[in-house]
Amino acid sequence: MTAKTRIILGIETSCDDTSVAIVHGNKVLANCVSSQLIHGNYGGVVPELASRGHIEAILPILKLALKESKVLLKDIDGIAFTQGPGLLGSLMVGCSFAKGLALSLNKPLIPVHHMKAHILAHFIDDPKHTEAPSFPFLCLTVSGGHTQIVKVEDVSNMCILGKTIDDAAGEAFDKAAKMLGLPYPGGPLIDKYAQNGNPNKFTFSKPKIKGLDYSFSGLKTSILYKLKDWTKNNSDFIKENLNDLCASIQKTIIDILLEKFLKASKETNIKQLAIAGGVSANSELRKQLKEKSNQGFKVFIPNSNYCTDNAAMIAMAGSLMYENDIFANQHISADARLQF
Ligand code: KG4
Ligand code: ZN
Repeated sequence: MTAKTRIILGIETSCDDTSVAIVHGNKVLANCVSSQLIHGNYGGVVPELASRGHIEAILPILKLALKESKVLLKDIDGIAFTQGPGLLGSLMVGCSFAKGLALSLNKPLIPVHHMKAHILAHFIDDPKHTEAPSFPFLCLTVSGGHTQIVKVEDVSNMCILGKTIDDAAGEAFDKAAKMLGLPYPGGPLIDKYAQNGNPNKFTFSKPKIKGLDYSFSGLKTSILYKLKDWTKNNSDFIKENLNDLCASIQKTIIDILLEKFLKASKETNIKQLAIAGGVSANSELRKQLKEKSNQGFKVFIPNSNYCTDNAAMIAMAGSLMYENDIFANQHISADARLQF
């Protein structure tokens, strides 16, 4: 899907990353992200600290994005921002900032759904991935707050075929990492240690949920009880087995994710499979999905820069929405539970 060569500014502040990006059509001119490290001290995102962090970071990040892209504010055609879902205080910072910019520049305001933007990141022109999916395709959207199998009919027509009924896949990674004594966010660390581990060393329970929905809370309990058991007589058990534990936990999560994703493909007869969201940065998930291209599937794996939260995906979504005349007025507000 090619976007007209307009210049769109994107603002993302849904959680703990402040990001501003500028795209020209489907090309990213700048994608600046400032990650808040302070949450690592608390084992998870502290909402009040996150919104304060966005207030401090947003103007310098905007200036950086303008400098990197060599674009002047007056040349911007539209301001896209994450309306939701996410942390309310964090979203409010981005939303108010976007509204102020749009008003002062007299440019249209484009409200973007964070999870849809993760999917639309596939339309960013990127030298590392040659082709974007054509419609319809299935997208496994896996982040810290969501796990969804989405049937994507076009830019504004997407439907959720399956979703988690409790924890998200990213949450499963982060909570498992916490039990292993790793800092937040633990997903990337599990990925790192798993590279040198044996994925078949330990087994954990898998959910038995019918249909295309997911559940990860049983896995969390299974990891908790098994670790309690294993560390009872050996307090160094985790240290001695960290790589194998990470590889085995990662394997279990990926098996759960791919089983339902392939089931959805079979049921819809859609063979184009894409992944998106923070967990799609996971190297083993990427590898396993890539292997499916030898089995009659066409797979789409985004550049890892556009997997975790970033404003390039918001600007890209905004660029495509501009063409569909999807705009907001100054009465719009952030919505922490924005419907899909
Ligand atoms: O999409 P995202 O950046 O933020 C949300 O919208 O939630 O996703 C963040 C999630 C976190 O749970 C993080 O641990 C996970 O993505 N994540 C990973 C990896 N990189 C990020 N999980 C597993 N392996 C990774 N390499
Ligand atoms: Zn996200």
